[in-house]
Amino acid sequence: MKVTVIGSGNLGKSIISGLANSDLFDPKNIVVADADPDNLEIIKAQAGVSVTESNLEAIKESKWIILCIQPRILQIVLDQIKDHLREDQVLISTVTGVTTEDINEVVPNNKVIRAMPNTAAVQQQSMSFICAENNEDEDVEFVRRMFGTIGKAIIIEQRLMKPATVLGASGTAFFLRFLRALTQGGVQMGFHPHEAQAIVAQVAIGAASLIEDGTQAEVEVDNVTTPRGCTIEGLNAMEHNGLTSAVIKGVMAAFDKISNIHEA
Ligand SMILES: NC(=O)c1ccc[n+]([C@@H]2O[C@H](COP(=O)([O-])OP(=O)(O)OC[C@H]3O[C@@H](n4cnc5c(N)ncnc54)[C@H](OP(=O)(O)O)[C@@H]3O)[C@@H](O)[C@H]2O)c1
Repeated sequence: MKVTVIGSGNLGKSIISGLANSDLFDPKNIVVADADPDNLEIIKAQAGVSVTESNLEAIKESKWIILCIQPRILQIVLDQIKDHLREDQVLISTVTGVTTEDINEVVPNNKVIRAMPNTAAVQQQSMSFICAENNEDEDVEFVRRMFGTIGKAIIIEQRLMKPATVLGASGTAFFLRFLRALTQGGVQMGFHPHEAQAIVAQVAIGAASLIEDGTQAEVEVDNVTTPRGCTIEGLNAMEHNGLTSAVIKGVMAAFDKISNIHEA
């Protein structure tokens, strides 16, 4: 079974590396096309995949074609491949703000499934969202399984793709900025930056693991918060400076921005 990835930029590289390390595809059966030959060399060396500068060459033998290109490039690529697609080929679009209906207007005879992963796909730790016009279609479940090999993947209604993009994709940057802030605090207290970052990363993984089973986050916060102790002192100082409010405002600013991108 072959899969083609068109676009090996930030997200494409992460997906390709994640899939190449999964049991689902032999790296040789992952065909990558990109306009930038340097990107192709990097991903070939990193993941052992097949590469080509020709999108048409890349789509020849694959049932699954993942589009990892910028929205402004999508129309160009669709126009290029539309007359060369077989009807059994499935397009998987990661392109932000473009619906399955938009793509089917150009490519009416092919199934289109949307996938919204994040860059932690490279560590097989993505949070990915999958949707199609008909989520009951068996190919949608296969695509969920495919993205399930590079982290967690859930099928959602298409109307939730914008909130999913903010929480799931932008969320990576939000967390990393918070981790950087904690790291800076660690340095001020006396750790070297690399030590502080390693500590903060492990604490984040541990904290996330505590709520993986659905336990309310505040229950675990209470478990760390001794009355009159240092944790509550720190938490309250953060709240007095607007931590929760700043995060919610940031999420909603991102949502406002993505909501102004055309989508049905
Ligand atoms: N980054 C994320 O976390 C994330 C998460 C979810 C979804 N997305 C979506 O994923 C898509 C890709 O994002 P990205 O950050 O990976 O973009 P990117 O880094 O710009 O990568 C796009 C790649 O496509 C190449 N390309 C340009 N024109 C092409 C063509 N005609 N045929 C084949 N390849 C071509 C680009 O080459 P050049 O550099 O030479 O132009 C570049 O290597 C976007 O639509 C974005 O909305 C991103």
